[in-house]
This record gives sequence, structure tokens and C-alpha cells, in this order.
Amino acid sequence: MEKFFCPECHRTYSVNTTRWRCDCGSPLDLEFTPEFSTEKILKRRPGLWRYREAIPIQKDGSILSMGEGFTPLEEVEFNGRSALLKIDYLFPTGSYKDRGAAVLISKAKELGIKKVVEDSSGNAGSAIAAYCARAGIECGIYAPRSISSGKLVQIQTYGANLKKIEGSREKTARMTMEAAKKNYYASHCWNPYFLHGTKTFAFEIWEQMGWKSPDTLVLPIGHGTLLLGAYIGFKELKEAKRVKRIPKLVGIQSASCAPLYQAFKKGLREAQSIEKRETLAEGIAIANPVRGRQVLEAIRETGGEILTVTEKEIGIALREMGRRGHFIEPTSAATIAGLKKYLRGTRSKETVVSSLTGTGLKAVEKIEISGKSRNL
Ligand SMILES: Cc1ncc(COP(=O)(O)O)c(C=O)c1O
Ligand SMILES: [Zn+2]
Repeated sequence: MEKFFCPECHRTYSVNTTRWRCDCGSPLDLEFTPEFSTEKILKRRPGLWRYREAIPIQKDGSILSMGEGFTPLEEVEFNGRSALLKIDYLFPTGSYKDRGAAVLISKAKELGIKKVVEDSSGNAGSAIAAYCARAGIECGIYAPRSISSGKLVQIQTYGANLKKIEGSREKTARMTMEAAKKNYYASHCWNPYFLHGTKTFAFEIWEQMGWKSPDTLVLPIGHGTLLLGAYIGFKELKEAKRVKRIPKLVGIQSASCAPLYQAFKKGLREAQSIEKRETLAEGIAIANPVRGRQVLEAIRETGGEILTVTEKEIGIALREMGRRGHFIEPTSAATIAGLKKYLRGTRSKETVVSSLTGTGLKAVEKIEISGKSRNL
């Protein structure tokens, strides 16, 4: 059975606990050996559970599923350079966070947890609330009052107890940690089971590209749960000798809140505190990324880089994707703005994959305001 493992002090712990960090304060990883059988994978329905032997849930009866995953991989072109996009806004709650929530809440069910708490800028909270509703687990979500109202309404509709916090995303996280002293912390950034759900992004790409890895992944980074999941997924495939290498990881941050970009540029091991400005990309407006050190290590190890995008570039990318039939939220448009920037310097043969991480339907007011102010 798998174990919690501390990447800093190397302590290990049983996973049969409500523990959410190491005694030394570090986030925990999971020690787990996945298996991959293409024969078994191909026999199963399209969805993220087709990689069943690579997902750390003990009993099939614990699995909570709404048929999520195996999202389309669509080819796009920007200025003569092509890339592939995972259409992850097609998940049941409208964002890729369902990858993590499906696995994390299945584990909570397996552990017999009755109540969880989580803090979020909206999409992770919606995903955790939806899967808790399916599991019959009581759910408390802490979110800043200022986030898109579509996300707040969605969380409440799933029956979660929504605590709207007056103040920043950082204050929201602090209040949730207090609540986590008495309740299971179903945190998308602290709990490694979430990353063992987002890693299915890598498995799907591997299969959809003919059992190969692409050269490069261009992904958003707030806390970095998709980027770290993709890294873990491709690392597991490499260790199992299913792919030759882990793709180069290129992270995208909003120029208004770019702690990891700053740290990367200065050659630092972890992010330092920064002054955060308002940004349309609310999903990646994270001033203190919990696993910042791991994100920087993964990017450096794969020879990747971090790019920033401006508010203007986010607005332009959002409307450009709209004209191509994709209604995405500004956070996802930030990734596309970064992808366009990255593609300007690529070789024509480089295979680049990115993602449309969230639907625009939850963020209509922000999209409307950005459209009016820019008159696009
Ligand atoms: C739509 C969307 N994309 C990307 C992200 C970034 O995720 P992370 O903070 O794990 O990097 C978020 C986070 O909330 C999101 O909602
Ligand atoms: Zn430790």
C-alpha cells in the first residue's frame, strides 16, 4: 500500500490518517508504484479511470465517477505554428479540477471521512463540492467573496456549506487551515491524492499521441496542481519505461501575480513574497504557492521556463478562442496567451500540448467587464 513521504526531511507516514502536512511543515508526496497495461486500458470506457492500476485507490467500491476524463485533444494553429489543446473545460464541473477531486474524494470515502474542508478560488471548490455530494460527505468550502459569482452559486448548489471570506485568497487559506485542525483537509494543493488525479492528464496525452510523450507542455501555474500532476504522470510513465522522456514544462503566470516567475528568473529555490495586483486570471492569482519549490524543481529539471502574460494579452486570447468556438474563463485565456508567446520561438517539429482548463460560463461578469474596457 502507498505511503505519505516528505520530500524535505524524508519522514514517512501511513495514509490512513487525516494528516495533511509533515511535522516539519512541508507538503507530503505519495510513495506509490503504478502499473500500466495497454491491454487493460484499451478495454475500458474512455475516462480517467481507464488507468485504474495507476491510481492509488485500494477498492473499486470507493471510486466516485461521473464518467469524467479522456477529454478531446484538438489541434490549433497560431501564426503558422501548431499545438494540441486538451479540452478540459468539458469536465462535469467545468474545469480540470475534477481530475484531482474524483481521486481525492474517492480516497476520503475509502478512509470513511464524514466531513471535509477546502479553500479555493472557485473551481477546485466546485469540484470538491460536487464529488462530496456524490459521496454523501459533508463539505465546507472557503472562498474569497470577490471571485466569480458563478463559482460561488455552483458550490452552494452542490449542497456545500460556502464560507465567503471578506479579504484575500491568502486570508481564505489561513482560515481554512484553522478549520482543518478539526476536519479532513481536502486541499487541492496540500493533499497529494489530488495530484494523483491531475496526473491522468499525462496518461491521456500519452495514449492520445500514440503512446508517446510530446516535447513540451505549456500549463498555467497558480499553485501548479496541473503542472505537478503532469510531471508526476510522465515521470511514472518514464520509470515504467512507457515513454522515453518527461516533456519540457513551460509554466504561465499572470504578470500581475508572478511569484514563481520572479523566483525562476532570480535562480531561487522557492518563491518569495510579492506584491499582487488585480488580475482577470483569478484561478492563478496565488501569491504563496504551497508547492512552489516542487514546481520550480520540475520546471528546471525538464529544461523548461516560466512566461508571464499581461491583462491585455489575456483579454485578446480570450476573444480569439471565442472566435474559434471555445468559451473559456480568463484564467485559461492566460494560458493561451502564454502558449502563443511560447510558440513564436519554437522549431516547427516541436510537439506542444496545452490545455483549456476552465469554462467561461462561470465567469461571465469578468468576461463582460474585460470586453467593455477593451472594446474588443
Ligand atoms: C480554470 C483554471 N485554470 C488553471 C488553474 C490553476 O491551477 P493551479 O493553482 O493548481 O496551478 C485554476 C485554479 O484555480 C483554474 O481554476
Ligand atoms: Zn518533513
